[in-house]
Amino acid sequence: MTNTESSLPGVRFIGSGSAVPDRVLTNQDLAQMVDTNDEWISSRTGIRERHIADGENDSVANLAAKAAQQAITAAGLQPENIDLIILSTSTSDDLFGTAGRVQKILGAERAVAFDLVAACSGFVFGLVTASQYIRTGVYKNVLLIGADVLSRWVDWQDRRTCILFGDGAGAVVLQSSSQNSLLGFEMRSDGKGNDLLNINYLGRSTFHPITMNGQEVYRFAVRRVPEVIEKSLHHAGLEVNDLDWLIMHQANQRIIDAVVNRFGIDPAKAVSNMGKYGNTSAASIPIALNEWVKADKIQKDNLIAIAGFGAGLSWGSAVFRWG
Ligand code: COA
Repeated sequence: MTNTESSLPGVRFIGSGSAVPDRVLTNQDLAQMVDTNDEWISSRTGIRERHIADGENDSVANLAAKAAQQAITAAGLQPENIDLIILSTSTSDDLFGTAGRVQKILGAERAVAFDLVAACSGFVFGLVTASQYIRTGVYKNVLLIGADVLSRWVDWQDRRTCILFGDGAGAVVLQSSSQNSLLGFEMRSDGKGNDLLNINYLGRSTFHPITMNGQEVYRFAVRRVPEVIEKSLHHAGLEVNDLDWLIMHQANQRIIDAVVNRFGIDPAKAVSNMGKYGNTSAASIPIALNEWVKADKIQKDNLIAIAGFGAGLSWGSAVFRWG
């Protein structure tokens, strides 16, 4: 199966943006809250600090809208040019969905807006979903946002999980084009691993905070992520050495290092910023993408593979050219 058919409208990536809360929580701060220390956290995860939502201003909707407005401006568009808004989030401000609030803040009055829930694979799954609407000719300008405020759902007394997560949002604008830049993708789910990572409904309008089997999730990621990257490259007719950049979900530096070693690629090509942000779930890939674009490291026509993985279990990869 190939993901690209030349007679269909293509997908171009024309802008990016990101936003994180101002408040920073360092590993030293965490050591005051639970029995942990900077050395344990940074050597096991690569995370040194994370941004944490502080009140209403840092809602999913507000962070998502900030990232989205940047992406729309970078794309040279206005909010009213957007046809479709997909908000990938697992931490909605409202269980009925948050995309409508984002639409309202932006003033993207022509758009249809909905949420997509696929945990830390949300940005990859959202990208593939968005691309289907463009490839079929239904929509021209699509805003894709990954935004999560997992700090709301962390048990701040559980040292096994509270050290990992941070809050933020990232966005891209995709546009219909005669050239197709989304060259390949692959998405996977395995519900047999569903109980490895959860925020479960407890009853009477309450949810249990995050529970995770860290070792099993680690093993799953190291085994499955390289497979899915290889599949999406195969669909694109490319090889790993063709890549300019690999942007994996920013969960753990050791997972990135394991994938880099497995492929034998230059570690400098593997984007990493989790030291500053922790695991921001659906936001981690677009935050990293935007940071590398803004720093002029990612250049027009650079070949990028992204890979997300997490609860579901779900995992996926996409290969595209930037700009
Ligand atoms: N500080 C200090 N000690 C800690 C700790 C912390 N924050 N968290 C756990 N420990 C302790 C454990 O209690 C355990 O102690 P014990 O041996 O006395 O029982 C010891 O450290 C080892 O715990 P373990 O859970 O085996 O650690 P680990 O090496 O597997 O590392 C993770 C834990 C969470 C860092 C690692 O499993 C991981 O990164 N998994 C993937 C998680 C992930 O990415 N999830 C999101 C996917 S989207």
